Amino acid sequence: MWAPLVASLYAWSVCASDAIDRQALIARYNPTRNASSATTPMQVGNGNFAFGADITGLQTFQPWAILSTWGWKNDSLPEGETIQDVYNYTGISLDNHGRLVEYMFDGPEPMQQWMISNPNRANLGAVGLVFWSEQGTVLNVTESDLTSVKQVLDLWTGILTSNFVFNGTGIQVQTSSAQTVDSISVSVSSSLLETGQLGVFVDFPWNDGSLKFSDPFVGFWDNASLHTTTLDTTPHGTIGAEITHTLVNSTFITSIGGDPFTITRDSLAAHRYSIRPSTKSGTFSFSTTWGLASPESVLSPSAISLSSSQTWEDYWTTSGFVDVFTGSTDPRADELQRRIILSRYLMRVNEAGDYPPQESGLVNNGWSVLRRTVRMYFWHCQHWALWNNWDLLWRSSSVYDRFLATSIARAQVQQGWPTGARWGKMSDPSGRSAPGQINELLIWQQPHPLVFANYEYRAFPTTATLRKWEQVVRNTADWMATFAWFNETTGFYDLGPPLYQVAEDNIFNNTYNPSFELAYWRLTLGFAETWLERLGETVPSNWTIVKNGLAKLPVNNGTYKVFEDVEDNFWTDPMYINDHPALAGLHGWLPPTEGLDLETSMLTTEKVWASWNVSNLWGWDFPQLAMSAARIGNQEQALEFLLHPLFQFDDVGMPVGGVRVPTPYFPGSGALLYAIAMMAEGWDGSSGNAPGFPAEGWNVRAEGMSKAM
Ligand SMILES: *[C@@H]1O[C@H](CO)[C@@H](O)[C@H](O)[C@H]1NC(C)=O
Ligand SMILES: *[C@@H]1O[C@H](CO)[C@@H](O)[C@H](O)[C@H]1NC(C)=O
Ligand SMILES: *[C@@H]1O[C@H](CO)[C@@H](O)[C@H](O)[C@H]1NC(C)=O
Ligand SMILES: *[C@@H]1O[C@H](CO)[C@@H](O)[C@H](O)[C@H]1NC(C)=O
Ligand SMILES: *[C@@H]1O[C@H](CO)[C@@H](O)[C@H](O)[C@H]1NC(C)=O
Ligand SMILES: *[C@@H]1O[C@H](CO)[C@@H](O)[C@H](O)[C@H]1NC(C)=O
Ligand SMILES: *[C@@H]1O[C@H](CO)[C@@H](O)[C@H](O)[C@H]1NC(C)=O
Ligand SMILES: *[C@@H]1O[C@H](CO)[C@@H](O)[C@H](O)[C@H]1NC(C)=O
Ligand SMILES: *[C@@H]1O[C@H](CO)[C@@H](O)[C@H](O)[C@H]1NC(C)=O
Ligand SMILES: *[C@@H]1O[C@H](CO)[C@@H](O)[C@H](O)[C@H]1NC(C)=O
Ligand SMILES: *[C@@H]1O[C@H](CO)[C@@H](O)[C@H](O)[C@H]1NC(C)=O
Ligand SMILES: *[C@@H]1O[C@H](CO)[C@@H](O)[C@H](O)[C@H]1NC(C)=O
Repeated sequence: MWAPLVASLYAWSVCASDAIDRQALIARYNPTRNASSATTPMQVGNGNFAFGADITGLQTFQPWAILSTWGWKNDSLPEGETIQDVYNYTGISLDNHGRLVEYMFDGPEPMQQWMISNPNRANLGAVGLVFWSEQGTVLNVTESDLTSVKQVLDLWTGILTSNFVFNGTGIQVQTSSAQTVDSISVSVSSSLLETGQLGVFVDFPWNDGSLKFSDPFVGFWDNASLHTTTLDTTPHGTIGAEITHTLVNSTFITSIGGDPFTITRDSLAAHRYSIRPSTKSGTFSFSTTWGLASPESVLSPSAISLSSSQTWEDYWTTSGFVDVFTGSTDPRADELQRRIILSRYLMRVNEAGDYPPQESGLVNNGWSVLRRTVRMYFWHCQHWALWNNWDLLWRSSSVYDRFLATSIARAQVQQGWPTGARWGKMSDPSGRSAPGQINELLIWQQPHPLVFANYEYRAFPTTATLRKWEQVVRNTADWMATFAWFNETTGFYDLGPPLYQVAEDNIFNNTYNPSFELAYWRLTLGFAETWLERLGETVPSNWTIVKNGLAKLPVNNGTYKVFEDVEDNFWTDPMYINDHPALAGLHGWLPPTEGLDLETSMLTTEKVWASWNVSNLWGWDFPQLAMSAARIGNQEQALEFLLHPLFQFDDVGMPVGGVRVPTPYFPGSGALLYAIAMMAEGWDGSSGNAPGFPAEGWNVRAEGMSKAM
């Protein structure tokens, strides 16, 4: 299993002279802008923290968010409720083959809505330029007052440079993010600094859980009385000033250092502060750190930009890399390469944090307050394994250990299953699920940890890896085995009811035996068996009994069905052809599982392509369909899906939401990188170079990548 990885790394190092010129290829796609975008910022960040910038490299004209994986707040509790009520919440009980199981939905309001909306992620503030007249009055400058605008993000160093002219005078702003702390460095150069006509403001918004699909911005700038800020100008360490921002019970500290400055509360807004450089020189550099407590010191601006350039260079040079552009004659290669490079940048900024990310990463709260989505974690983050970014993946994959106790409690205490851990779909930082019908009844997130574990073992085939994941593997598989219900009529183990299949479009209280979930259960119970065999331990007999006894995939007239009790003509029923086409994943997203008939699955895949309402699909659907095409050898179709008109990446590489969801929608980027890895490096059992790409017109090179399962 692991030999191919070692072999490919070896081949890469011995052929170093033929190595891809990564720096040159990356530079080709450095995003540039000459105006702010109405929908997406340029970003600097480190995976746990990201700073969204407008055309000035700051938030001068547009309040793009500063978000983190630690900045959370609870709204005040509904009148008369206490935190204890959160833990006392009871939802609805559904019949589960003669046993009532409690699910968290249809519970008492307003407590239920509070539990959905909280904790919510806070926008930590805004930093922008202030323009003063010669007489010292604040000028109302708008973006249209700037000329000769040019902004470029240097992907190789993570440094964003913005140049523009205001009233005849040039201004340059350079912005970068530290990589080990949540700080930015800002260097401003302009002769307006010498005349005291240029400075900086910091401002702080109110945040709450009332907004849904609140893209593109986060927070309210006009609810001044709901929150407080206090300024401390007593310098300590390298910190020149500190602002304490309190919203209900959450407090965030903003610490500012760098060149000497004076700071005062502004008259323009209640929580806005103006910073004036103390010396009249042509440059002003400062750093700003956000955190839950006051740090001892802040990094200097130059230390931050060094941290940025070193970490980014290290990222680009030591991880996997795919070059589809050099030497390709297919005109689509340039755009595909652009998407790969920009997705690699944005995933490192938005999706390399300590928790599974949410759909809009650290750009905004576009998915309401939807927090760590463990369901989508496969699409957000599994690609890190194939591109060999284990350090980044491990930050969040430890969530399976951290949430194990609450997932065991969900399965056994709340829902009364005899054994195992049931992974929630959508959890807060403590592992508590948000109430919701879909959240509670989806099951396809359950096998994900077995896939994460399996990929880790392929890269690190050691006893330490086996032990590290052992409890997660055992509890995950235990629940999968216990959830499968023995149907005495058929002699098979059924999945559901109740459940929601991947597409979330079925009637949960009838549906049973969805094809994708049956195949995923069979595949990953096999992974769990092998895990214990490698450890030399006894495989629980129920895992094997259930895996071997699971219902056959439901089939009708030569093709598989979405689930067993669906009508045979579901292919033309709008109810079933408008959402995630996971039915094409039986041999694509998933490798062929035991008992899968390859002819039937191929016909099924082709029928999905022809029957599904593709004009209503979005995000990861397209890479998922590309994988289904690559696996059955239709490489041209795979590329058509990856470059489908409804699957777009904007000028800075942000994954456009498309027909159904807000922008950005990062599962699209993660799935793109997963599909590219598979198509370029191959999958178990594939042969030849870049087996997912057409032979004609494409010259594809992969370095330091791993095969997909
Ligand atoms: C800004 O860039 C766009 C796209 O590259 C270009 O069409 C436009 O002319 C530019 N505008 C200015 C003012 O430079
Ligand atoms: C919000 O409330 C929950 C209880 O539901 C608590 O566990 C959590 O620590 C609180 N978070 C914040 C940021 O106050
Ligand atoms: C805020 O803290 C107070 C005092 O500890 C507590 O009673 C209240 O429940 C907390 N509110 C929230 C929303 O966590
Ligand atoms: C929550 O449940 C506990 C234990 O059942 C009970 O003692 C307590 O009164 C309940 N609290 C509320 C606010 O209902
Ligand atoms: C623009 O610059 C000129 C001098 O070059 C100055 O007289 C004028 O006040 C400036 N305008 C503003 C809005 O600062
Ligand atoms: C600033 O100018 C813009 C456009 O001219 C205007 O819409 C806005 O209201 C002004 N803001 C203030 C605070 O005067
Ligand atoms: C905050 O301000 C917005 C916009 O003015 C308003 O709709 C909202 O109700 C305010 N929120 C609270 C909690 O007062
Ligand atoms: C058992 O399987 C049969 C045949 O598929 C089905 O009709 C029946 O509904 C299943 N029983 C239950 C309780 O789900
Ligand atoms: C299915 O659930 C819906 C909504 O809760 C309910 O109205 C319906 O009666 C249920 N049907 C069955 C067969 O249990
Ligand atoms: C194994 O399955 C049987 C039958 O479903 C059940 O009674 C038993 O409790 C299960 N054992 C374990 C350890 O899950
Ligand atoms: C069965 O499939 C064939 C070929 O795909 C098709 O022509 C035929 O109409 C289908 N029959 C039914 C009853 O759907
Ligand atoms: C297909 O999707 C479009 C939206 O993109 C929708 O308007 C149309 O009704 C859908 N067609 C069917 C047959 O469901």
